[in-house]
Amino acid sequence: MNIAVIGAGYVGLITAAGMAETGHRVICVDDDLHKIEVLNSGRMPFYEPGLEDLVERNRRAKRLEFVSHIEDAVAECQAIFICVGTPTLENGEADLSSVELVARRISECARGYHLVIEKSTVPVQTGRRLQRHFGVYRKSSQFHCDVASNPEFLREGSGVEDFFHPDRIVVGVDSEKAAALLEGIYQPVLEQSFVCPIHENCASRSRVPFVITDINSAELIKHASNSFLAMKISFINMIADLCEAVGADVGKVAEAVGMDKRIGASFLRPGVGFGGSCFPKDLQAFVRVGQDAGCDFALLREVERINQRRIDLFVNKIKEELWVVRGKRIGVWGLAFKPRTDDVRSSPPLAVIRRLLAEGALVRAYDPQAMEKAKAQAPEIEYCADAYAAAQGAEAVLALTEWEEFLRLDLMKVRQIMARPLILDGRNMFSCATMAAQGFEYVDIGSGSPARKHQLGAS
Ligand code: UDX
Repeated sequence: MNIAVIGAGYVGLITAAGMAETGHRVICVDDDLHKIEVLNSGRMPFYEPGLEDLVERNRRAKRLEFVSHIEDAVAECQAIFICVGTPTLENGEADLSSVELVARRISECARGYHLVIEKSTVPVQTGRRLQRHFGVYRKSSQFHCDVASNPEFLREGSGVEDFFHPDRIVVGVDSEKAAALLEGIYQPVLEQSFVCPIHENCASRSRVPFVITDINSAELIKHASNSFLAMKISFINMIADLCEAVGADVGKVAEAVGMDKRIGASFLRPGVGFGGSCFPKDLQAFVRVGQDAGCDFALLREVERINQRRIDLFVNKIKEELWVVRGKRIGVWGLAFKPRTDDVRSSPPLAVIRRLLAEGALVRAYDPQAMEKAKAQAPEIEYCADAYAAAQGAEAVLALTEWEEFLRLDLMKVRQIMARPLILDGRNMFSCATMAAQGFEYVDIGSGSPARKHQLGAS
């Protein structure tokens, strides 16, 4: 099938390349000429494991092309996925101006039948607005369309895997025709009948659930899913604070709580809070949706508040250990909002660093992928070639993104090159026992248990 994907960001590019890999011919559109140039020259606008190969293979196979004019794609493609950004406005609402602009462009050039699918994360009832918009602005009387919602659940850092192995595919439609078209588009993924580009020996795979509902419900499913995951994280962070206060071990608490199948172990890792381009933004937008609908979303406002306070609490821990931070050299491991990505949008590590810089600390940082993006946001940081250089002569090292490579560091060497062997772990990535055995002062999140304090030699 010929498919148009409008927007070559994380969602658009992964969707476009994934669709092409499963046999569709895909035209991916972006009005950022530089990005189109980068993509057509075989380079990537951002780091995402497995995506470069996928894009390159399908570009060479002529199943995937990148253009800057939407008209070219609309003329050739019946199905059009809208994957543009919906950033946050001052008042917390989602900014839908890019979605509207795309809709207007489609209205101006479309002829015949099209299925227009919103994949960007949008507030409920956006699909209704799109339908009305097409009715008002269509240039040709021949243009008629179905609007559908098809929320994505891709995680940065594992987006390609999430495209090919989703927990479910959700579509919100108003017609059987639209449902059938979307089922056809996703057939290879639903049946898992493709050669897996991620796993060499991809285990036997069961059929993926295909959830068909109305447009409003599909739109809500996305916001509700992300808000629930964010709530789980704020919940365990709240528990971590209690563990520190009463002397308990959040690691054990999370482990045992997560064993309850009704709760599940994932997203119960305490730390310096959630960041990225989705959770903070979607939570704000969903709180606005609730408010506008006259519903009490106090629960989600509390999830946000707990998350914002993570930075304060972690900075207090640093001050507790260093007393005065002015003039102190502090090393930082990790700048990305999570591992396996170069994304620093709403990055908790950068929020911590900004606080320390404002108090006159000297920050030297290292991240395997995100330093270029971080430089644009925080030029005052001293960027280092590796984790050792960041630790060199430091009074403390902050572990803020749980990159695998940090777990393979030679800790003995780290201890020798630091001015003071103090590690503050904002992601509980290290083991307390190991750090104590290596002679570090080690502070993590939520470990108030006497046993752990004993291991750390703390009174
Ligand atoms: C998220 C959703 O997971 C995905 O389904 C949706 O499509 C987009 O938003 P992403 O933002 O890439 O994906 O990151 P995710 O892996 O969900 O992590 C979000 C944040 O939560 C990160 O900052 C991460 O460090 C933090 N996190 C995650 C925790 O602090 N604790 C956890 O247990 C899990």
